[in-house]
Amino acid sequence: MQILEAAGQKQLTQRERFEKVRTLVHPSSESASKALAAEVAALIRERAAAGKTTVLGLATGSTPVPYYRELIRLHQEEGLSFESVTTFNLDEYYGLPRDHPESYFRFMRDQLFDHVDLDPSRIHIPDGTVPMEAVYDHCLDYERRIIEAGGLDVQILGIGRTGHIGFNEPGSSADSITRMITLDRVTRQDAAADFMGVANVPRSAITMGVGTILEAKRLVLMAWGANKASIVREAVEGKVTDQISASFLQNHGNATFLVDEAAASNLTRFRFPWLVGPVEWDAPMKKRAVVWLARKLDKPILKLVDEDYNENGAGGLLASTSEAAYEVNIDIFNRVQHTITGWPGGKPGIDDSRRPERSEPFPKRILVLSPEPADALIGMGGTLSRLREQGHEVKLVFQTSGNLRVADVAALNFARVVLEMAETSHSPEWESQTAYARSIVEAIDAKGEFGIDPDFVRKLKGLILRGEARDAASVCRLRYHDNQFLDLPFYETGRYRRFRFEAADAESVRAILAEFQPHSIYATGDASDPSSPQAIAFRAFTEAWKGWDGGTRQESRVWLYRGRDRPFEAHEIDMAVPMSPDQLEEKAESIRRFMSINEDDLNAPARNREIAATYDALGMAEYEAIEAFRRWIPA
Ligand code: F6R
Repeated sequence: MQILEAAGQKQLTQRERFEKVRTLVHPSSESASKALAAEVAALIRERAAAGKTTVLGLATGSTPVPYYRELIRLHQEEGLSFESVTTFNLDEYYGLPRDHPESYFRFMRDQLFDHVDLDPSRIHIPDGTVPMEAVYDHCLDYERRIIEAGGLDVQILGIGRTGHIGFNEPGSSADSITRMITLDRVTRQDAAADFMGVANVPRSAITMGVGTILEAKRLVLMAWGANKASIVREAVEGKVTDQISASFLQNHGNATFLVDEAAASNLTRFRFPWLVGPVEWDAPMKKRAVVWLARKLDKPILKLVDEDYNENGAGGLLASTSEAAYEVNIDIFNRVQHTITGWPGGKPGIDDSRRPERSEPFPKRILVLSPEPADALIGMGGTLSRLREQGHEVKLVFQTSGNLRVADVAALNFARVVLEMAETSHSPEWESQTAYARSIVEAIDAKGEFGIDPDFVRKLKGLILRGEARDAASVCRLRYHDNQFLDLPFYETGRYRRFRFEAADAESVRAILAEFQPHSIYATGDASDPSSPQAIAFRAFTEAWKGWDGGTRQESRVWLYRGRDRPFEAHEIDMAVPMSPDQLEEKAESIRRFMSINEDDLNAPARNREIAATYDALGMAEYEAIEAFRRWIPA
């Protein structure tokens, strides 16, 4: 029973001809996961009716979470039974006790096993606690059990930024079997938030091999969010290579990539649609094609000639108008040029018909939403500074406390300062503070290497991060009272990869909109992995927007920025705010005020330089750096 299409491995239509494996694109991870769950449920039912078991290959991480939620719903509401199901998980970290909150064993219990009628004796997950000398046999035994169960009927997969499936990091061969593997640096970096710091992420894991996975009768690889877009493209359109283990799916007769629009956005049919078929040459499509052509040929826009268009697959653009290349060039050049402004809040008293932001009212009330505390500084620190300098009333709202990112040592340092103060003061008045500080030290000691913080430690960590956030914002000229902290509930009760949106999150943001009545809003998270704090914070905003009526809503303009996600491409930019070398250094300084910052975050200024270099290459003025924004138009 197959509901998702996977007719052979090749794509069928012209539009999809660059794709070497069937790729289905859904508007959201939820609709995609429902479709997959429907297929799997039908398979389970069909086989159970014939007295057969179904062997499901499972994955962990954020990607399959909506799929598991749907399976649970099907069980609870539509009577889907898992009694006839046997499961095998792809992988497990090596060295984590099974009850560790980040062990895949625990993850599976929380996300699926505890909520359905699976027989525990039919559940298989590699054991990350077997002694080193027993790992080899354990892995062989795992392979044997899969074979004895009759092989995997449907194996679901996520994809890492290294292109791994399971934990088959670059270099894993097509015939590899279950084994111990060393995790790639990028993979460990991506897991850093889950483990509260990269240093805590295990260095190795036990994983099914590529060969084990390819033996499954059916493979479905899911991917959500813009951060997966480039690796999805490589796996789907690129060469089959052991450097990207997901590319081996191209050689499997019954594999499907199931992706949301953001993860599909780099596929040729979406990114360069004119290369694969007829397109409607509206203004955004023209801009996209001309910018692409200029970048491809490494020429400024105004130097493109008719042959450039015709010889590179963009002849259709010229054919669609009566204009020659030069006229098209000028039109697009002007459009790109007009995105540049040093007045992100609008320049008062002048004609704004070609400017990204309106002149009036001036000054404006400007609301900046930062999902985790560092996001806004990383994404738009320079623009924040400008908005304040130009006299706007800026409210920087930190949506979540971000407390999971704060290292133990920061809390311990605080507690030790309190203890030393108490000791030197020799005063009985310090008794309760001393008791508090001791309880912090004890709680951190007690939770051990990978343990979970009790609420009062999370609270302290959140307050420490508040201090850093205020400090960082002050480097960007914000005053103490310009900052507001929402501590959205979804974050306080959750963990990375498992956050869940709650109505209270939206209500909290709606209350700010209604009270502050902003003229402009800056937000991010629209293309993030759906279970990330950024995506949920964005959802809190969009739901809040729907529930906000009256006031300045009609005239309010929403700008999207990019913090930790893939930066906008040049053609996507509606507003480009240039920065001088000094302003860029100021932004870098503000990011450094966060102790929990990682390498990627510190690279934010380099990304701003890259945007400026792209604008320069297109023939715009040469700036040191640019922060980029895109208009959000509510559906
Ligand atoms: C997990 C696994 C990994 C993940 C991949 C993506 O069992 O095998 O391959 O699927 O690392 O992780 P997320 O879904 O968290 O982005």
